[in-house]
Amino acid sequence: MRSLVLGLQFGDEGKGKITDFISHPGSVIVRYNGGTNAGHTVVTDRGTFKFHLLPAGSLRAESIVLGNGMVIDPEALITEISSIRVENKDLKILVSSAANVVTKLHKAIDRAQEEMRGDNKIGTTSHGIGPTYEEKYSRNGIRIEDLADIDKIRKKLKLISTMRRSELENTEYNNPEKIEQLAVELSKYWASIGKYVCRTEIILHEMVTDNREMVFEGGHGTMLDIDFGSYPYVTSSNTISGGVHTGSGVSLRKIQRIIGVVKSYTSRVGEGPFPTELHGKEADLLREAGGEYGTTTGRPRRVGWLDIPLVKYASTLNDIDELSLTKLDVLGTFKTIKICTDYGKNVKNAINVLTGSEKADPSYMEMDSWGTLKEDEIREMVKKGYSSLPDEMRTYIEKVESLSGKPVHIISIGKIRDSTIQKE
Ligand code: IMP
Repeated sequence: MRSLVLGLQFGDEGKGKITDFISHPGSVIVRYNGGTNAGHTVVTDRGTFKFHLLPAGSLRAESIVLGNGMVIDPEALITEISSIRVENKDLKILVSSAANVVTKLHKAIDRAQEEMRGDNKIGTTSHGIGPTYEEKYSRNGIRIEDLADIDKIRKKLKLISTMRRSELENTEYNNPEKIEQLAVELSKYWASIGKYVCRTEIILHEMVTDNREMVFEGGHGTMLDIDFGSYPYVTSSNTISGGVHTGSGVSLRKIQRIIGVVKSYTSRVGEGPFPTELHGKEADLLREAGGEYGTTTGRPRRVGWLDIPLVKYASTLNDIDELSLTKLDVLGTFKTIKICTDYGKNVKNAINVLTGSEKADPSYMEMDSWGTLKEDEIREMVKKGYSSLPDEMRTYIEKVESLSGKPVHIISIGKIRDSTIQKE
């Protein structure tokens, strides 16, 4: 089976846990977009693992592939590889020679751009993601394969720093010595990562032909897609299902199962429209219960109720087969649970609201809560399966199915790795 797991909201839906759940010791896990701006946490008996570049399934996979659509910070890559080796020492790692390199200069530009935007800032992670994709599309980007050749790095950095003079003006990279230092630093990474670098699309095509068990893992969420998200408050890559083809070289026609992961409430980091956002005490309660602080930046996330118009828009866009619902235990903190069912009769379409050109007047339905669950109760429910979930929780899940028009198959009801249930 070849599956794709992606988020339908603003990222942080709990995709990592779902990838981890459906991957096996023989699986190949592929990432195809973004960089260290993504972040996911997997909690196992041996501790909590946070990944930014490596896919979450790395803990039990046989092979992982970082595709050409990614932007890779080599320093972060080396750190993550050494931490995964402790858990999965035989893991095969393949990195696309065509993926672009995030450098410290691009991080400096990211910060400088945000400052220049002033009140219109996007609220980026400052990890240099946007400027690195700009470099790629201006065709001056440093590709991973270039790290083997210091002269190439030097030449490209010189060109980049000349073209971006005004952006670099108030940064430490406005001087040639710093650029030379950066070139030397970048060239040293090749010794550690060169052995992983190849034309990954060729190997992926062979894996597809061999019918290998494969999971493609989307970074971020649908609403952060550069084309279809809540522009301009988005990331710089295509986060939707179509990103698989351009970001890995594997045709979407080869994917047999597309899973859209939806958190049972909504969260968002950074600026931009958020129709179901909560404020004050209710927001604090949800944020604390859900640990809604950025894995990447530590920033408190904005939080709100589940937004069905958004989920429907994202489900259609990604042509998903099924939904996966996460963090239901967290939602149980509330005595009464709300779901936004529509944006009001005057709204033409959901994306207009999500890009800020139309204003929503959200309608909500209220549902009874299942209350908080203890860890041993969760373990028992996982053992007994879907029918042992509290009635109120099953009613909620089935309501999401009828409102969204999509079946829910995988449900996550707790933090620990073994708190995931297959509905059918
Ligand atoms: P960038 O990707 O660092 O350029 O940030 C652009 C916007 O996307 C900001 O609002 C970030 O907070 C948001 N963002 C990027 N990646 C993620 C993610 O994986 N989860 C949640 N928000 C993200």
